[in-house]
Amino acid sequence: MRVLVSGGVGFIGSHTVVALIEAGHEPVIVDNLSNSDESVVGRIGEITGHVPEFHKADVRDVESMTELAGAGIDACIHFAALKAVGESVADPMKYYDNNVGGTIALLSALESAGVTRLVFSSSATVYGDPEKLPLTESMPIGVATNPYGWTKIMMEQVLRDLHVANEEWSIPILRYFNPVGAHPSGMIGEDPQGIPNNLMPYVAKVAAGELDHVRVFGADYPTPDGTGVRDYIHVVDLAVGHIRALDVHSDDPGVHVYNLGTGRGHSVLELIKAYEEASGRKIPYEIVERRPGDVAASFADVQKAYSDLGWSTEFGLADMCAHSWKWVSGAPR
Ligand code: NAD
Ligand code: UFG
Repeated sequence: MRVLVSGGVGFIGSHTVVALIEAGHEPVIVDNLSNSDESVVGRIGEITGHVPEFHKADVRDVESMTELAGAGIDACIHFAALKAVGESVADPMKYYDNNVGGTIALLSALESAGVTRLVFSSSATVYGDPEKLPLTESMPIGVATNPYGWTKIMMEQVLRDLHVANEEWSIPILRYFNPVGAHPSGMIGEDPQGIPNNLMPYVAKVAAGELDHVRVFGADYPTPDGTGVRDYIHVVDLAVGHIRALDVHSDDPGVHVYNLGTGRGHSVLELIKAYEEASGRKIPYEIVERRPGDVAASFADVQKAYSDLGWSTEFGLADMCAHSWKWVSGAPR
């Protein structure tokens, strides 16, 4: 299939483009490079032996999207979004405009070009504060604690309504847990601007000596060691999940929701220890106050993805840390 990949230069998008090429699909990337660098396109070419088609454009530009979608596109994987939780609190309009506005513009362009297959990047954040663990897809959508989270809840609703109005749409909604790691080659990975908000990229910068120490946000949660527990998933496993969802549901109209995680939680301290082992570096940390809006623990029930998509994860926490460290510590940057 010829697959339009919005946000395909970014962290998860670039790994998915690699997986698409490896699975014999033809990705067409569209990205405005607001949070990524064009050099990634060349590196995808080095990994796969095929430099993907790339268009620098904004998904809110309906005219460009309609032109792109009309050029033989069979399906779209929609990653393009802003994702910094703190920034979304400070500038909510930017997030509603880019994420919700961008999704609406892209969907109308796809529909007018007759493209009715879309894989959507959602997030475990839509569950809010979990009442019960593990989280299953049938649990109710919760209350978001920030505008970024609300954009994901709103976009999921837009997609459900779209399918009610036009039943031809096939829409796998993938709720990611905590994507981390990098391509095992060390050629592509996560490259956050400034001081990272998320745990693994922060830990990586401490290991690399760019930051002093990790601040552990709370050690008084009702978890085995008191620190927050999350379901970390290797970005390559996550990427493969998109290909499975695309293949299984390509001629299967409906809205299909899947959790993508490993089904296992790890604490902040476990992750720090695993990263120390992977990097061979000491990672100093300090316990500080809880971060507002954080939940104690979150991990997925992944049975549905396993039974419907035949998908499960291959990589564990040690691989996630090893591949992240290979990316952070090495060439090509
Ligand atoms: P990323 O920032 O690395 O990638 C997003 C890409 O989209 C970037 O290359 C950016 O330049 C591009 N983009 C943003 N707005 C655009 C626009 N209007 N037009 C065109 N391109 C645009 O982020 P990521 O971690 O790869 O996340 C991809 C998707 O997965 C996002 O939708 C994100 O909300 C979702 N998600 C991410 C996580 C996570 O922890 N990384 C967790 C759950 C869900
Ligand atoms: N943490 C620290 N110190 C840090 C950063 C994080 O102790 O410097 C802790 C957090 O308190 C939490 C855990 O590490 O217990 C993971 O935090 P992340 O920020 O890495 O991830 P979150 O689960 O908070 O959030 C991520 C994405 C959100 C997304 C959510 C659910 O950042 O965008 O997963 O998918 F919505």
